Amino acid sequence: MTNRYAVILAAGQGTRMKSSLYKVLHPVCGKPMVQHVIDQLSELQLTKMITIVGHGAEKVRAHVGDKSLFALQEEQLGTAHAVMQAKDLLADAEGTTIVICGDTPLITAETIDALLQHHEHTKAKATILTAYAEDPTGYGRIIRNEDGLVEKIVEHKDATEEERTVKEINTGTYCFDNKALFDSLSKVSNDNVQGEYYLPDVVEILKQAGEVVSAYQTHHFEETLGVNDRYALSQAEEIMKKRINKKHMLNGVTIIDPSNTYISADAQIGRDTVIYPGTMIQGASTIGERCEIGPNTEIKDCQIGNDTALRHSVAHDSEIGHEVKIGPFAHIRPQSQIADEVRIGNFVEIKKTSFGKGSKASHLSYIGDAEVGENVNLGCGSITVNYDGKNKFLTKIEDGAFIGCNSNLIAPVRVGKGAYVAAGSTITDDVPGNALSIARARQVNKEDYAEKMDVHKKS
Ligand code: UD1
Ligand code: CA
Repeated sequence: MTNRYAVILAAGQGTRMKSSLYKVLHPVCGKPMVQHVIDQLSELQLTKMITIVGHGAEKVRAHVGDKSLFALQEEQLGTAHAVMQAKDLLADAEGTTIVICGDTPLITAETIDALLQHHEHTKAKATILTAYAEDPTGYGRIIRNEDGLVEKIVEHKDATEEERTVKEINTGTYCFDNKALFDSLSKVSNDNVQGEYYLPDVVEILKQAGEVVSAYQTHHFEETLGVNDRYALSQAEEIMKKRINKKHMLNGVTIIDPSNTYISADAQIGRDTVIYPGTMIQGASTIGERCEIGPNTEIKDCQIGNDTALRHSVAHDSEIGHEVKIGPFAHIRPQSQIADEVRIGNFVEIKKTSFGKGSKASHLSYIGDAEVGENVNLGCGSITVNYDGKNKFLTKIEDGAFIGCNSNLIAPVRVGKGAYVAAGSTITDDVPGNALSIARARQVNKEDYAEKMDVHKKS
């Protein structure tokens, strides 16, 4: 098999985004655009991937990691100049090189693969992935001769009135014979409206050298959407959202209102789970089977088991087991581990806390920096007092303990196995297992107090 390489163009300034965030790092369904492109390419068993990065280089590297090699384009002099930066890593290689823009997040591995097949089958030196656009404004146009063969690509800004009527566009994805690509790049000039070295000019250069240039037209125009501004970003988001939701529905997930359900590209959801409206499932979350999620719930980077319900709640960066009931109006903050059959009710906030199997905090609690054993009952209004203004301290509540309503557990503190804490207590010392701890002022009843008040008033 021929060696296959990919060059991902991601060094552009992204001026039209009007943003301090590097263009290709703008997320679509929670994942940076360039990451979408790289993830699709990763399915194609390529010998080498090289991402061309510019002024935000470090941030792109940090996101992409070791999936790709990188080459720096210090000045953004155009797409041909960008590809040139891969010269040291690639120019001597034999094989096929895919060039793709980092701002086309909707492109799929299937379409790139179809382009590759077409390219290798026709033995062309260059094959352009084209599409038919209802509104081709802004895209490079494919100019064909009277035999229907591709002659050249003209950028929108350089096109004549007549050329602008052409609706077949350059998607910005190509396959090249690697050697022919690098030979031609050195011949590209910047004699055009934008004063840039255009990669599409390679097509005309190859053509004039008598080489075969081919085009492969995809019927999925929406896959090739190039995101240059925030409006296109919102279009990409909408298309990606529909695609992701459809995938889950076809896998057996019920989504009550797909137009109002936002699932990240990397989330996984089990069969027979029902997602109610207003739900956002972000990051690399996994949700098990037969869960009920939402309405109005935000889950980010959580691992959730089977038969669990989260309603009107927020959960981040935590593990949640099977048959857990969370909400309405609960907040699970990062680094929490919630075991099976736990119940976290309304207005309960959990932070960096482990909850053992079958434990409950049903109403109005803050439990932070705590280790809660199994079958613990945290009464309404239980609070771990974990912070002295400088440091955070641990609260340990052992199996089967019962914490009465409105108790403060002042950390560091431990409530032993099977112990009871009386309602309204402020616990500052460890409670031994099986003990009852009462830590509140005794009640005093002043008899006939009202009568004395009356006497007082009359005098
Ligand atoms: C480009 C194509 C156009 C095509 C369109 C498809 C050129 C000259 N034009 O136009 O024919 O229809 O894509 O979306 O190629 N980049 C660099 N370095 C640079 C300039 C750009 O790395 O010096 C990167 C950008 O980060 C971007 C990609 O190349 O990911 C495309 O650049 P962009 O400026 O968006 O080109 P378009 O005007 O969209
Ligand atoms: Ca673009």
